[in-house]
Amino acid sequence: ALERTLSIIKPDAVAKNVVGEIYARFEKAGLKVVAAKMKHLSRKEAEGFYAVHRERPFFNALVEFMISGPVMIQVLQGDNAVLKHRDLMGATNPKDAAKGTIRADFADSIDANAVHGSDAAETAATEIAYFFAATEVFPR
Ligand code: CMP
Repeated sequence: ALERTLSIIKPDAVAKNVVGEIYARFEKAGLKVVAAKMKHLSRKEAEGFYAVHRERPFFNALVEFMISGPVMIQVLQGDNAVLKHRDLMGATNPKDAAKGTIRADFADSIDANAVHGSDAAETAATEIAYFFAATEVFPR
């Protein structure tokens, strides 16, 4: 089915100057960028985005990392976009990420893991609405 998913290129990958390389992987896999913005998240924005993880032991480190520099946020659209994007990213922990995935190639640790992607179509809708107004998403 045609889906949309939220993708974030995290501060580590932006700092490494691999935004274009990561976009190329999306495009080669048939995912289209239908919305995008660069943003330096406030603490409140990062805490709100990751609210489901609030009770997890890694929450504070996650928020600190996500506000350590600008991120690139995009909506990707395509057939089976949520799973396709997750396959491109690889496992959350780069140590477990398959060869050739974004995290295997660009991530350094489970915290500085280069990218975020929605885990399901329902969460994608919530995450997209968190960062983009409906008028900022351009169906293509
Ligand atoms: P992300 O997909 O952005 O969602 C939550 C993030 O928390 C995750 O990627 C990791 O970068 C980070 N994180 C740190 N420790 C853990 C952990 N033990 N399990 C899951 N996520 C973790």
